[in-house]
Amino acid sequence: MGHREIYMAAPHMIDRLSILLVLLGVVSSRPSSSMLQGMNLPHMTWDVEEVSGKSFDYIIVGGGTAGCPLASTLSMKFSVLLVERGGSPYENPLVIEKKYYGLSLLETDYFSSLSQRFVSADGVSNLRGRVLGGSSAINGGFYSRASREFVERSGWDQEMVEKAYEWVESRVVFQPALTPWQTTTQFGLLQAGILPYNGYSLEHVEGTKIGGSIFDKSGIRHTSADLLRGGNPENVTVLLNATVKNIVFRNSSGGNETWATGISFIRSDQSTEETFEAFLNMANDSTAPQGDIILAAGAIGSPTILLLSGVGPPKHLEKFDIPVIVNLTGVGRDMKDSPCISLLADSRPMERPADPPQVTGIASDLKFVIEAGILPISFNTTLIPVAGKLAFPVSKGRLKLNSTDPRENPSVKFNYLNKEQDLRQCVEMVELLQRVVSSQAVTIFLGVEHKKGIMSGQEELSSFCKKNVRTFYHYHGGCPVGSVVDSDYRVHGVKGLRVVDGSTFLESPGTNPMATLMMLGRYQGMKILQERKSA
Ligand SMILES: Cc1cc2nc3c(=O)[nH]c(=O)nc-3n(C[C@H](O)[C@H](O)[C@H](O)COP(=O)(O)OP(=O)(O)OC[C@H]3O[C@@H](n4cnc5c(N)ncnc54)[C@H](O)[C@@H]3O)c2cc1C
Ligand SMILES: *[C@@H]1O[C@H](CO)[C@@H](O)[C@H](O)[C@H]1NC(C)=O
Ligand SMILES: *[C@@H]1O[C@H](CO)[C@@H](O)[C@H](O)[C@H]1NC(C)=O
Ligand SMILES: *[C@@H]1O[C@H](CO)[C@@H](O)[C@H](O)[C@H]1NC(C)=O
Ligand SMILES: *[C@@H]1O[C@H](CO)[C@@H](O)[C@H](O)[C@H]1NC(C)=O
Ligand SMILES: *[C@@H]1O[C@H](CO)[C@@H](O)[C@H](O)[C@H]1NC(C)=O
Ligand SMILES: *[C@@H]1O[C@H](CO)[C@@H](O)[C@H](O)[C@H]1NC(C)=O
Ligand SMILES: *[C@@H]1O[C@H](CO)[C@@H](O)[C@H](O)[C@H]1NC(C)=O
Ligand SMILES: *[C@@H]1O[C@H](CO)[C@@H](O)[C@H](O)[C@H]1NC(C)=O
Repeated sequence: MGHREIYMAAPHMIDRLSILLVLLGVVSSRPSSSMLQGMNLPHMTWDVEEVSGKSFDYIIVGGGTAGCPLASTLSMKFSVLLVERGGSPYENPLVIEKKYYGLSLLETDYFSSLSQRFVSADGVSNLRGRVLGGSSAINGGFYSRASREFVERSGWDQEMVEKAYEWVESRVVFQPALTPWQTTTQFGLLQAGILPYNGYSLEHVEGTKIGGSIFDKSGIRHTSADLLRGGNPENVTVLLNATVKNIVFRNSSGGNETWATGISFIRSDQSTEETFEAFLNMANDSTAPQGDIILAAGAIGSPTILLLSGVGPPKHLEKFDIPVIVNLTGVGRDMKDSPCISLLADSRPMERPADPPQVTGIASDLKFVIEAGILPISFNTTLIPVAGKLAFPVSKGRLKLNSTDPRENPSVKFNYLNKEQDLRQCVEMVELLQRVVSSQAVTIFLGVEHKKGIMSGQEELSSFCKKNVRTFYHYHGGCPVGSVVDSDYRVHGVKGLRVVDGSTFLESPGTNPMATLMMLGRYQGMKILQERKSA
């Protein structure tokens, strides 16, 4: 029994970070002009009054992984407002510096920390980014493209997808220099039989490979916010520290159509009482706006905003007295998260430098993805979890409102391992993880620190899976293509409203999703520019 309990990196081992924050003298996240000079970033403001009542060609809600490249792309031809509930990532060492990787995940508060914690109704603790750059500002920075098959199934144009990936990669992606632990992981994966060896590759292919990283050679993170430099910064206004509450709708003059014409927002640090509005440019009161409100608030944020705006299942909206604008029962459905199992390779907390994953093992027909970083569990201690995810879970769940305050988390249930197929695969994956942990490479690297408890048998392994399932942070769904948005990512039943982020995925890109979400922002932006040109 003993090894099972200590196998997991338990959440209660996480210390408070206050001491660290004092030690670091963490500055406010207000960027100084010196640092931002010459970066060619768009105008950023915290002043809601500056934006209140103004009109723009496009309004993007959520300055995250997909939202930033989308804003940048649309700004080449149009004026864009990008609204982000968090602050700026620039000059915040917890975002920017690789040596502090993982610390921003430890200390969370309700309304202002970089990471917002949420606990799914399954009891699994999870995180979402709350800062310009979104989850790309708090994540492991591992960059890997989706497979061609995924792109095909998504119905995207292969050539445009290729160009969009390249646009992203030339700006924020770097080939990592392997750390000693990542070199060890690479050998451990190969010794566990995850073959062939593919060297450095951005492609999602079976075997062991080194992926790309958004940390550069000097250990500086390049979040999606850096992609704002790629467009026409003069045509983007970034409003920070403002939380969008709902979309503002209007009936067409004939009364037969509903148009999204604006957004309503609050200051992120205030109560919901004082609200402000911004609008889409309207050429003419009797024709629909040509631009769109585009939600890019992530898999938790975007369905929440639709529900708060009255777009969703009527029965659920009635419980919160929200008037129904569109009866769209798919909103909040098809929420999925890859079940993750993480086995500790070391036996006790140590003081090692944090080490985000640079290497991955992709096994069993792309079903399993395995990585091993060195993660802080307090400001001076780390653990080494060898973590595997099921890439294609069939279990799915639902997101529902829990409050009408847009800053609060909704309630989410993923139903991890509910379906027999997922549980069977989990058992198979734990066997593989054990082979990695007990590989010769890992054993030699960790020496006396090494821990290898071997579990076996269907029953022991399934119960281990059920007790220890956690997240790989690759959750998605809530506004799936088909039931909520069409193939152009327009929300059904209204004009002028789209969703472009992880909430639209029906399945995960198999690999880590960040690359595909950065690409999707660029890709959908290019699609819209093309559409407008031919109109
Ligand atoms: C801890 C962690 C580690 C991860 N590691 C990796 C990794 O190494 N590699 C990888 O590929 N993927 C990784 N992922 C997954 C990946 O980062 C996410 O899938 C991806 O970033 C999600 O992108 P998104 O655009 O859908 O949402 P986000 O990037 O989360 O963007 C949503 C944005 O909208 C804002 N927002 C939300 N609601 C509102 C509102 N009401 N008003 C205004 N703004 C709002 C949020 O603050 C946020 O900035 C990780 C995720 C986490 C959490
Ligand atoms: C900004 O967008 C407007 C459209 O609203 C366009 O007319 C203008 O040329 C753009 N400005 C620049 C500097 O590209
Ligand atoms: C913006 O939000 C961040 C993060 O919550 C906070 O640190 C910062 O002080 C806020 N800035 C302003 C001007 O409110
Ligand atoms: C639009 O029209 C419907 C029915 O005619 C009405 O109930 C609704 O309040 C109107 N919506 C707006 C935003 O004016
Ligand atoms: C609504 O009416 C307008 C003007 O009569 C027409 O152009 C448009 O196609 C109609 N829309 C729908 C959804 O029926
Ligand atoms: C608005 O558009 C309608 C339909 O295209 C047109 O008949 C009308 O003249 C336009 N009004 C203005 C003020 O431009
Ligand atoms: C909403 O739509 C669903 C199916 O599309 C339908 O079954 C239901 O009756 C509708 N509800 C209302 C209140 O119109
Ligand atoms: C971490 O810091 C605390 C407080 O300064 C100290 O007591 C502890 O020994 C340190 N742990 C390690 C592993 O260095
Ligand atoms: C839902 O709201 C209640 C009351 O405000 C709170 O106690 C609970 O923790 C919330 N649930 C979630 C999942 O946030």
